[in-house]
Amino acid sequence: MYNANSLKIMSIVGARPNFMKIAPIARAVEQHNACPGSLPIDHVVVHTGQHYDDKMSDLFFKELEIPRPDYNLHVGSASHAVQTAQIMERFEPVLLREHPDVLLVVGDVNSTVACALVATKINYNGSSSQRRPLIAHIEAGLRSRDRDMPEEINRILTDALSDLLFVTEEDALESLEREGIPRTRVHFVGNVMIDTLMQHREKAHMRNTLGRIVKDHELAVGVRTGLGPETVPGNGRYGVVTLHRPSNVDTPAALNPLINNLARISTQLPLIFPVHPRTRANMEKFGMVGVLDPARVIMTEPLGYLDFLSLVLGASLVLTDSGGIQEETTFLDVPCITLRNNTERHITVTRGTNYLVGTNPEQMRKTALDIIAGRRKKGTVPMLWDGMASNRIIEVVSHRMADLCAA
Ligand code: UD1
Repeated sequence: MYNANSLKIMSIVGARPNFMKIAPIARAVEQHNACPGSLPIDHVVVHTGQHYDDKMSDLFFKELEIPRPDYNLHVGSASHAVQTAQIMERFEPVLLREHPDVLLVVGDVNSTVACALVATKINYNGSSSQRRPLIAHIEAGLRSRDRDMPEEINRILTDALSDLLFVTEEDALESLEREGIPRTRVHFVGNVMIDTLMQHREKAHMRNTLGRIVKDHELAVGVRTGLGPETVPGNGRYGVVTLHRPSNVDTPAALNPLINNLARISTQLPLIFPVHPRTRANMEKFGMVGVLDPARVIMTEPLGYLDFLSLVLGASLVLTDSGGIQEETTFLDVPCITLRNNTERHITVTRGTNYLVGTNPEQMRKTALDIIAGRRKKGTVPMLWDGMASNRIIEVVSHRMADLCAA
């Protein structure tokens, strides 16, 4: 029997791309609770600790004003099997103690699937009389159709386990239908990451991230980049790079041509490159750091949300292998070159500003040079990417709970 007087939602975060997806949910819960007559929601946040560095985790909680996690499972880095197993092992007692009505998982990282699986199995334990929570997956239905990608497996499994599937784009509806997921479970609500972007865009715009990075870099390496204080936000003649996919950075055969190509592109357009810890370690191991001219490529530590957004707002081009950045650039009408052979975010290519070039150096360079020369496609903002996705999600969840209570 469900408690008709309140609703407990437990949200899971683990890795960097999760934080900006949970921030607007926390805010939507507060707004919901402020509405007289609404079913009060108790929101519990669990951080698995998959990402643990200040710059990969804590900074996002501060900047995005996410409530401090009620639990941190401190799993850290390990092989996929060990990391997933440790999350499951440490999450089960938390779930048993808290008895949430709804478990909210986001995106496609190991934490997402591990916690969804624990929740699915919680009432199979002989000793437990606990009813399992409804499992809600935010960003459901995205498919790259590339099963070599660990995230693709996480997406397929999480969707198969979920009771409520919240989708960001129409293509996802078809993918879920093809996989036999009943349409009644699926809700097209828009994109929570765009909620966060809209909420923080003005603040990011006010920061002089570029100026600060350039000054620090020039002082550190003793060379002039030409990206001086005269480069104002919104008018930047620079590109932004991010790289972290294991398939792109874990072997010299994959990473070295990409870095060599970035070096060539940087002769035409200076680049700012906040480097993921995995990529930094491999660049050092493969001797690739020195390939990038410090007068043309500024390598930084991973950046916080506001600094990164500030850079993207002013960039003339983004080169990335990330998922979420493809969506953010589409929303902002900034050209994005995706250094992958496929994407799970099809709408960013068909309607947005995203170019899928794979890792073919010629294709990557040609597309970059076209964009630098001003030959670029104009995108449109996808349907329901309007800043209200989180409110829609909370509305669906609370209605579903009200129905279950009444049943
Ligand atoms: C994970 C996600 C990926 C997401 C990415 C964002 C999975 C399968 N992958 O990949 O989908 O796009 O996060 O970053 O869940 N490290 C640190 N500090 C940290 C975190 C990681 O130094 O705070 C280093 C460790 O050396 C670690 C490596 O980065 O071994 C990779 O971290 P891991 O969480 O395993 O995967 P990501 O590549 O970050």
